[in-house]
Amino acid sequence: MAVRVEGQTFYLETKNTLYQMKADHYGVLKHLWYGVKTGQDMEYLLDYPDVGFSGNIYDADRDRAYSQDTMPLEYATEGVGDFRIPAVGVRYENGASALDLRYEGYRIEDGKYAIPGLPAVYAEEYEAQTLEITLKDVVSDIRVVLKYGVLPDFDVITRSAVIVNDGSQTVMVNKAHSLCLDIPYGKWEWIHFHGRHLKERTPERRPLLHGVQQSSSKRGISSHHQNPTVLLCKEGCTETSGTCIGAALMYSGCFQTQIEYDQLNQTRLVMGINTHMFCWELKPGERFYTPEAILSMSSTGFETLSHQFHRVIREHVCRGKYKLIERPVLINNWEATYFDFNEEKLVEIARGAAELGVDMLVMDDGWFGQRDNDDAGLGDWYVNRDKLPGGLESLVAKVNDLGMDFGIWFEPEMISENSDLYRAHPEWVVRIPGRKPVRGRYQLVLDMSRPDVRDYLFDVMSRILNCANIRYVKWDFNRSVSDWYSELLPSGRQKEMPHRFVLGLYDLLERLTQAFPDVLFEGCCGGGGRFDAGVLYYCPQIWCSDDTDAFERTQIQYGTSFFYPISTIGSHVSAVPNHQTGRTTSVKARGVTAMAGTFGYELDLNKLLPEEKAEVKKQIGLFKEYGPLIHNGKYYRLSNPFEDQYAVWEYVSSDAKKVLVQGMIFRTEPNMLRYPIYLRGLDPEKKYRLREDGIIYSGNALMNGGILIPKAWGDYVPVEMYLEAIDG
Ligand code: DGJ
Repeated sequence: MAVRVEGQTFYLETKNTLYQMKADHYGVLKHLWYGVKTGQDMEYLLDYPDVGFSGNIYDADRDRAYSQDTMPLEYATEGVGDFRIPAVGVRYENGASALDLRYEGYRIEDGKYAIPGLPAVYAEEYEAQTLEITLKDVVSDIRVVLKYGVLPDFDVITRSAVIVNDGSQTVMVNKAHSLCLDIPYGKWEWIHFHGRHLKERTPERRPLLHGVQQSSSKRGISSHHQNPTVLLCKEGCTETSGTCIGAALMYSGCFQTQIEYDQLNQTRLVMGINTHMFCWELKPGERFYTPEAILSMSSTGFETLSHQFHRVIREHVCRGKYKLIERPVLINNWEATYFDFNEEKLVEIARGAAELGVDMLVMDDGWFGQRDNDDAGLGDWYVNRDKLPGGLESLVAKVNDLGMDFGIWFEPEMISENSDLYRAHPEWVVRIPGRKPVRGRYQLVLDMSRPDVRDYLFDVMSRILNCANIRYVKWDFNRSVSDWYSELLPSGRQKEMPHRFVLGLYDLLERLTQAFPDVLFEGCCGGGGRFDAGVLYYCPQIWCSDDTDAFERTQIQYGTSFFYPISTIGSHVSAVPNHQTGRTTSVKARGVTAMAGTFGYELDLNKLLPEEKAEVKKQIGLFKEYGPLIHNGKYYRLSNPFEDQYAVWEYVSSDAKKVLVQGMIFRTEPNMLRYPIYLRGLDPEKKYRLREDGIIYSGNALMNGGILIPKAWGDYVPVEMYLEAIDG
C-alpha cells in the first residue's frame, strides 16, 4: 500500500521515499517528513521552545510552545499566528481573512485523481493511490481538500488542493497554491531556471537567505524568464550524491515559487498560481481547483531526481499516440525562408530533405491571410492563395508524393490589428477599456477566457486540419500578456482573468488534441517560453528555444534536462553562420546537439555542400538507430557546460547494454591533456566495445578510469562514441 494511516498519522510511501504528516490533538495538520524511508513516526523531531512573538492558537491555552509560527505545517494559512508565507488565503464578506484549518477526515482510493479542466499526472489503478485529506475552517464553512497522488514505482508524489465554499456567503480566494512543503532542519540551497528569449533555463544555485526568495512569471505564460520548476538541495549536493527535492508545477501561466528561510532556520516552499493579478470569487457551493505540483526527492543527487521526473513526465504526463514512439525527423522552413516562400520553394526544400531521409515537412509562419511579415494576418487561418495557389490540398499532396508527411504552424491565441478577424471582432482582444493595448511583436492577444473565441479557433483550425493530410501542428505564442482585462467579467472579478486565460488554453488544447488524435502537437512560445509540464500534457514535445546555435543549445538543453525528458525537447540543425549568434559550427556538431531532443532540420538542405549532405544523411541514419536509446534510455549529464570547456552527455539503455556519449568540445588548446570522461550507469562487470575503433573496455574502467575525450582540432568539436556490451 502506498498510503498508510496510523491513528491520525499519514504515511505516503514510494519505493525509496516517505512523506509523512499528522493531524495533532488540535486537529492542526503538521508536516513531519519528506525524505528517505525511515520506518518511523518522525514526530519526535519536533520539539519547539517558547519563541517570543510567535503566537499561540487559543486552544493551546497556556502552552506557549505551541505556535503555528514555528512548527512545520502541511498547508499554511493566514490569521492563525503563522507569519511565514501562506499557501492559501481568503477574504470574507466582512473583510476579514483568517483561515484556521483543522482536520476533518480522509479518503484513500486506488488510482490517481484527475483535476477538472486542468492537466494532471494520470496513472492506472494499480500504479497509484490517492489520498484526500479534508480540513475545515473552525468558523466559516470553507473546506480545503488536500489531494495527494502517490506513484510508488516512480518515487513521485503529486499535490493539489481544492478550496470548497460550503457556506452561505461569497468569499474571495486571494491565494491558492498547489504545494506547501516545510522542512524543519538542514542547510538547503535552491536552484531555479532563469533566462530570456533565446536563452532559456539557465540553472542558478543559491544558498537560502533569511526571508522570502521567489521565482515567478507575470507574463501569462510560464515564460522564458523563469521556469515553474525548482530544486531544493542540501549544501554539497552533486549530480551523484546528496539530498535534493524537486517540484514541477503543471501550469502554463503566471506562476509563483516562494521559499522562506525563517527565524529558526527552517525552510518553507510554496508553489502555485501567481498571487499577482489573482483573486477568485467563490460563491456558496463552488470549488476552486489548484493546478497540480509534481514532487520527487533523491538522496543520491540530481541525476536520480532527473531520472524520476523524466520517467513520470514521459509516461504519465505526456499523452497520445506519440508519447512513447519515435518522433518524425522534421524539416521546418522557418529559418530557411522566413515569410518569403511559396509552394514551389517549399516543395524544393522538401525534395532535398526527402532525398536525405527526412520524414516530414513543417510549413511555419506565413501561409495564411495577408501574412507577409509579422505585422499582419494573425487570426485569419485561411490559406494565402498568392503563396499557395493550389491550397493546402495541392501542397500536401506534392509533399506526400515525395514520401514525406506534412505539418503546419499556428499561433492560435494571437491576432494582428491588420486582419479580417480583428476588423470583425475587435472585442475579442485582451485590452483595458479606454487604454491603448500593449503590443508585442506588433500583435495583440485573444481573450482565451471567452467561449466564443475558443469556438472560433476550434472551428477554423479543425477546418484546416481536415482539408488535407496534416500530421503535425506547431502551436506558437509570441509575446507576453500584460494588460489583463476581459469584457465578459464584472469589475470585481477581473483578477480571475489570467487563470481563466490558461483554463481557456487548456480547453482548446483538449478539444483539438482529442478531435485529432493522429496529429502530433508540438508546443512553442517564441522557442521555450511555455516549456512546462502543463503543455506537455497536450503536446509531447516543445520547441526548446529560438536559439538554434549548437554551442548555445548545449547550455539551454542542459538546463532543460533537469526536469524535462529528452523526448520532449524540440531541437533542430540550422544553417551557419547561425542566425542568432553568427557562430559557425560543423554539420556534425549541430547534429550531435540536435539529437539530444526530437531532432530535425531548420534550413534548406539543398544549399549544403555534397560532403555536408552526406553527413546529414549519415546523421539521420544514426538518429533512426539511436533514437529509441536517446528517448527511452536514461540520460546522464557528464559535464556542466556553464563551467567546463566541454559539454558531454550520455544515454544508457535500461539493460545497460547500449551506451551513447555525445557532446561538444568548446575549444582546443595546444599541448592539451585529453580529459577522461567518467561514464555512469553501466554494468561494472560487463565489457563494452567502442564502435568507432573496436577497443574493449570494462564497465568498471569506463566508470572509474573514464574514457579519454576524442582528440580535438579547432573549436566546437563534436563528440560521439557508441559502446555496446559484448558479453550478453
Ligand atoms: C517563434 C518560433 O519559435 C519560431 O520557430 C517560428 O515559428 C516563429 N515564431 C514564427 O513566427
